[in-house]
Amino acid sequence: MTIPAVSIQNIHKDYTHLKALKGIDLEIPQGSFFGLLGPNGAGKSTLINIMAGLVRSTQGNIEVLGYNVMSQWRQARQSLGIVPQELVYDPFFNVQEMLRLQSGYFGFGKENYAWIDELIDILSLTDKVHTNLHDLSGGMKRRVLIAQALVHKPPVVVLDEPTAGVDVELRQSLWEFTKRLHAQGHTILLTTHYLEEAEALCDRIAILNHGEVVALDDKQALLARHPYRYLKLHLTANDIQLPAHLQKNFVSLENQQLLLRIHKEEDAIVSVLENLQAAGIEFDDLHTDEPGLEEVFMDLTHSTSS
Ligand SMILES: Nc1ncnc2c1ncn2[C@@H]1O[C@H](COP(=O)(O)OP(=O)(O)OP(=O)(O)O)[C@@H](O)[C@H]1O
Ligand SMILES: [Mg+2]
Repeated sequence: MTIPAVSIQNIHKDYTHLKALKGIDLEIPQGSFFGLLGPNGAGKSTLINIMAGLVRSTQGNIEVLGYNVMSQWRQARQSLGIVPQELVYDPFFNVQEMLRLQSGYFGFGKENYAWIDELIDILSLTDKVHTNLHDLSGGMKRRVLIAQALVHKPPVVVLDEPTAGVDVELRQSLWEFTKRLHAQGHTILLTTHYLEEAEALCDRIAILNHGEVVALDDKQALLARHPYRYLKLHLTANDIQLPAHLQKNFVSLENQQLLLRIHKEEDAIVSVLENLQAAGIEFDDLHTDEPGLEEVFMDLTHSTSS
């Protein structure tokens, strides 16, 4: 059996007035594109910071490619590239110096400079190589943090909200870059509040809420959990009277657009349409929408609030 990229076993983190993590168990398979999602304060960064050795857990173990992050810190750290959520940087170095320093910290010498130059190029930092980190914009600093996380070509790449506060263009290019890293064989662990992107990119997803795992599944299986699909109709009139037995399906009616929620098992779209017709409600266009990750996320994170 191949060892998991990351194995998280019963991780607890207690702060003085808060249990930030309440026994997290997760396994991230090698080669997966894993989404760690959850609302603000769910505990995502705390978990990542424990993985990085920046925060000490109250209880539990984390292994990266079989290396314990506490007792085999050096090997675990070598296997990981972490892009932190907070923009932490040393203001006394320029981009090139910073990346070379980081590379040296992992035991590489000049032989790694070509890879550093490649990273600078991929992340469009060429114009800024000699600029002091202090003088870069927020989005540029984030690019440097990404390059910094990758200098030692780590097999496991952890991105904690890499696109927070970056413009649309950079966001798109970062997603493309992450996809490329994944295609090259890196395991990716991503946290993001852009659920559409997570849905497009990730193959496996964990949802955290109040320090607990409330869902852990393959993306498709997770999406299939939401019991509803949606029926959108463009009506020929706005003033309609929905039959009583369709009231439970009603979501909204605006500008002659009627949105109905259809339970996948309990309602048949055909009979909903027949009922509308029988009630004299006419429409000239219709389409159906399958639920996305956002609906699943809302279901799971709202029903478990404490
Ligand atoms: N040093 C600390 N002392 C006390 N509480 C902390 C500390 N660090 C984090 N917390 C708390 O732990 C909880 C989890 O925080 P964390 O940063 O892990 O959330 P998150 O899921 O990353 O949220 P976000 O989506 O906003 O980044 C929050 O309630 C936070 O206030
Ligand atoms: Mg966070």
